[in-house]
Amino acid sequence: MYSRFFTAAAIVACCVLTACKSDSESLKSPDGRLTVDFEVDGTGCPVYSVKFDGRPVINTSGMGFEFKTLDAASGFKVKNVSRSEERGTWTPVWGENDVIEDNYNAMTVSLSKTVDGKEFEMDIDFRAYDDGMGFRYRFPASDGDSLTVKEECTQFAMPSDMTAWWIPGDYDTQEYEYVKSRLSEIRSYNQDDKIGNVSQTSFSPTGVQTSLMLKSDDGLYVNLHEAALVDFPAMHLEYNDTAMTFTSWLTPNRNGDKAEIKLPFSTPWRAVMVSDKATDILASNLIYNLNEPNALDDTSWIHPTKYMGVWWEMITGKSDWAYTDAEDFDLATFDYSKARPNGRHGANNANVRRYIDFAAENGFDQLLVEGWNVGWEDWLGKEKDYVFDFVTPYPDFDVKALNDYARSKGIKLMMHHETSGSIPNYERHMDQAYSLMNRYGYDAVKSGYVGNILPKGENHYNQNSVNHYLDAVKRAADHKIMVNAHEAVRPTGLARTYPNLVGNESAMGTEYRNMSPGHVTILPFTRLKGGPMDFTPGIFRMDIGSFVPGSNERKKATVANQLALYLTMYSPLQMAADMPEHYAEKADAFEFIKAVPVDWRKSIYLDAEPGEFIVVARKDKNSDDWYVGGVTNGDKRTIVVDFSFLDPGADYEATIYADAPDADYDTNPEAYTISKQTVTSESRCPMDMARGGGFAMSVTPVKK
Ligand code: NOJ
Ligand code: CA
Repeated sequence: MYSRFFTAAAIVACCVLTACKSDSESLKSPDGRLTVDFEVDGTGCPVYSVKFDGRPVINTSGMGFEFKTLDAASGFKVKNVSRSEERGTWTPVWGENDVIEDNYNAMTVSLSKTVDGKEFEMDIDFRAYDDGMGFRYRFPASDGDSLTVKEECTQFAMPSDMTAWWIPGDYDTQEYEYVKSRLSEIRSYNQDDKIGNVSQTSFSPTGVQTSLMLKSDDGLYVNLHEAALVDFPAMHLEYNDTAMTFTSWLTPNRNGDKAEIKLPFSTPWRAVMVSDKATDILASNLIYNLNEPNALDDTSWIHPTKYMGVWWEMITGKSDWAYTDAEDFDLATFDYSKARPNGRHGANNANVRRYIDFAAENGFDQLLVEGWNVGWEDWLGKEKDYVFDFVTPYPDFDVKALNDYARSKGIKLMMHHETSGSIPNYERHMDQAYSLMNRYGYDAVKSGYVGNILPKGENHYNQNSVNHYLDAVKRAADHKIMVNAHEAVRPTGLARTYPNLVGNESAMGTEYRNMSPGHVTILPFTRLKGGPMDFTPGIFRMDIGSFVPGSNERKKATVANQLALYLTMYSPLQMAADMPEHYAEKADAFEFIKAVPVDWRKSIYLDAEPGEFIVVARKDKNSDDWYVGGVTNGDKRTIVVDFSFLDPGADYEATIYADAPDADYDTNPEAYTISKQTVTSESRCPMDMARGGGFAMSVTPVKK
């Protein structure tokens, strides 16, 4: 039953909460609704709690660290408290809104204790925003010493047995469907193996990942995540179901320690979003606001991108990444010039040209091509230090000619670097790989980390790997390259600081053909809080067996649902994931994908409930057009779109892509209707969504 857990749940021996003692400090959000209380308890343990409108969000919870050489979770005294406030805005390079408000009240508590006759200082920075709060630890000593982190002792004591949307704790993957359960049920779900696709590095029967979405019975929405994950392992949460308390569980290094930090050091922020409205959680910019401002001097080369890909045909099994069927393959000695092609290689010159023609004709910016480079004969699960070199194309992929051809049609190719988890190999080749991209005019790379991370014993979310992913983004910026990393650590808002990080996967996306319809109504509440996802929407042929003989896979969504995802799953990087021939079959519905912008002036979440449905309206950054989209889970439902966000007195023409009356993800997924209607700011339009369905509309001002 426990086979997939490396270790049984360990109780972290950090702060044992005692009756609170002294010096309590309180911090309020600018609107006064959120309160953070802090004090040092009877054992000198720093503790905090959070309230919203006087209602408990986080009950009294311990803070601090266990270092190898010292206890930084007790014995502290408050040395100083300072306060400040910030009221301002910032302008993202791309985003859901062209301006982001950043208003908070801040408090820094400096704590000190005597260790071996010397003063040891730990500062805690708190920030209270209207939509949540964050805190981080700072170790200000400037002597360059290192500390080994054994445990982080941050707790989140939950006020009730809330409903949670969660995925299991795991050091290597977030590619799970979410479970909706009571907090008290997490243990039984995990133990009963009700969750598929669990990797071998799950650490505890009550471990979960962030961002974790929660709701209380009296309607408070709470979300736990982290921000600015830099030079530190990803934080998981471990639930003690007796104490109803989560404790931070950092992803360990190869030697079992959690992290090595060099002083002075600031940890990532621990963040709590809270509101009595689900839509506020979707609209919250708390995670970005807790990150540092843009660090790149020149961002003129970073641009939102709509792309197609030689991809779905490989994912579904219609074609292949590899050029041959060679067995006993060894890249070092293999002679491709003598090899017999398998006839299924997707990234061949003729096929790539076909995609270029289609993508260019339909106004796309880029075309991703996977399987262009040698080594795919033997890449998966082999844990070989050297798999790909990222520069040598297959014999039937002409890098120069295809890039020239794409350029002549007004689009670019998008690079693909599958590392197969070998971080050392990628780091060795990175500069030459990025230089090749510069030479041929690629300005975006989709990278990937499938398989066990090398060196052996490392994992996807520990400190070394986290450092690698950010290093890859920074080195890409030196080459003016945008990055979309799959299987990397889940984002924590770093795209504010490095806006060339235009996408990540780090969740279950369309590559899982059979995922349940409700998944897309949870991701915007969880995974997307840290940054955009390369979800790869836009599937138009749901029966995969209809084009891959022998396949019994079906995409559990309607066509209208797939269109709506371009709105409900915000990303500056959006793929039209299906194949040209399937778009040609439904050219009228494809018009929506062609038209939908990928950069926005303003976004308004109209209505939502996690796991149920999401409805959003977005205004194009470069015109006065609005777009409205809605998705539902496996239940059909009708929602009323309230157009009061439109300019009063103006007429708009809405083009509505909707589920046909008999559409259903299971029985009739490809049935849709397209209609036009005049709307004004007074309009209230009921929209029917089929099971697994949705709707999408463009709303354009009528020129008088
Ligand atoms: C997994 C990625 O998520 C997918 O998009 C990609 O095609 C494969 N790895 C191969 O790199
Ligand atoms: Ca993946």
